Amino acid sequence: MLRYLTAGESHGEALIAYISGLPAGLAVDQAFVDHELWRRQQGYGRGGRMKIERDTAHFLSGVHHGKTIGSPIAIQLENKDWKNWQESLPVDAGDPAKHKSVASPRPGHADLAGALKYNFSEARYVLERASARESAARVAIGALAKLFLRELGIEVLSHVITTGSVSVQGDVSWDKIRSLHNQEKDREEILLNCADADAEQRMKEEVDKVLKNGDSLGGVFEVVAHSVPPGLGTYAQWDERLDALLAAAVMSLQAVKAVEIGSGVAAAFSPGSAVHDEIGYNAASGFTAFSRTHNNAGGIEGGVSNGEEIRVRGYLKPISTLRRPLQSVDFSTRESVKAAYERSDVCVVPAAGVAAEAMVALTLARCALEKFGGDSMLETLRNFHGYCQQLKDY
Ligand SMILES: Cc1cc2nc3c(=O)[nH]c(=O)nc-3n(C[C@H](O)[C@H](O)[C@H](O)COP(=O)(O)O)c2cc1C
Repeated sequence: MLRYLTAGESHGEALIAYISGLPAGLAVDQAFVDHELWRRQQGYGRGGRMKIERDTAHFLSGVHHGKTIGSPIAIQLENKDWKNWQESLPVDAGDPAKHKSVASPRPGHADLAGALKYNFSEARYVLERASARESAARVAIGALAKLFLRELGIEVLSHVITTGSVSVQGDVSWDKIRSLHNQEKDREEILLNCADADAEQRMKEEVDKVLKNGDSLGGVFEVVAHSVPPGLGTYAQWDERLDALLAAAVMSLQAVKAVEIGSGVAAAFSPGSAVHDEIGYNAASGFTAFSRTHNNAGGIEGGVSNGEEIRVRGYLKPISTLRRPLQSVDFSTRESVKAAYERSDVCVVPAAGVAAEAMVALTLARCALEKFGGDSMLETLRNFHGYCQQLKDY
């Protein structure tokens, strides 16, 4: 079984990502993993931290001579800022005078709920772990899941649909998303990762507005998994349904407040005749000759992948830290004050999309390994190709 966890604080020494259950013999491309980490650090509206950190994955175990060996993999991501925090966030007792407390909880963050839960007198330790810096560790192991899925011909990418009040109209095809991703390689930065250049400029203007007035923005990203065979996930048990697993995986990301599979939201307001994807039998390519008129289901019916592209949207609330802070209460005096401010991004929709790609890739890799799993890539691929042949013969 594929299992994964992360550890680390935002201003601690390092993040650690752990993944166990990948078959032996998977080639690990360090440049690819680091490029994924770079993608998570991109986007117009990011804070100063992205400029001081360039994440790189340091493999501590489980990968040797460029390949997985079937043992648990631990990856370390150094926090470059640690040198400035060693005295204020020491492992030993340290000097309390150097402690940087978060004196008033910030609305929209875990600060108040976390301080109450863990019985902290202020919110420093809460912020340190609840921060989305943690998502970098997920991207590192998500990159390994992507490398595994690629061996099965499955690719996972994302694009931005909405930033603030600007949205892309209509469906965005896989070819457009792919070419948006290909252009990345020639760029020094990613703006809003939007497939429509005009909309992207208008999104940038939205970010400029909030940058000027000390506010923040949310938005919507879409993750697309291309060339997923029918049969991942199952309706047989509630906790094995692929839609439920993907929803939990994407919802687990910081600031994601709603998840949609395919056209799930619009479907709730439409008649069945306009929603369900009619079935034909004329496809020249694909896993079978069965075809669909459209893909409103987002590639999943009854908790099972149906062979169409898997499309998952994540809805992000606006960033909680505001340069013009909202009202809060001082932890020690209980007096009404403005919420604490820590250096912050104002818009993270493209980066959240990259982190969600990682969560979708990890979920699909887990389901694929449950279905085709072997201890080596040779065994896994043999099982996978055998199943593909079974689909062709159906
Ligand atoms: C990639 C990414 C970067 C983020 N950066 C920030 C940030 O700089 N400042 C901030 O206040 N929130 C940021 N957030 C959102 C918070 O981490 C999140 O809203 C907060 O931890 C509360 O969790 P919740 O929104 O899931 O309830 C970011 C989220 C993501 C996905």
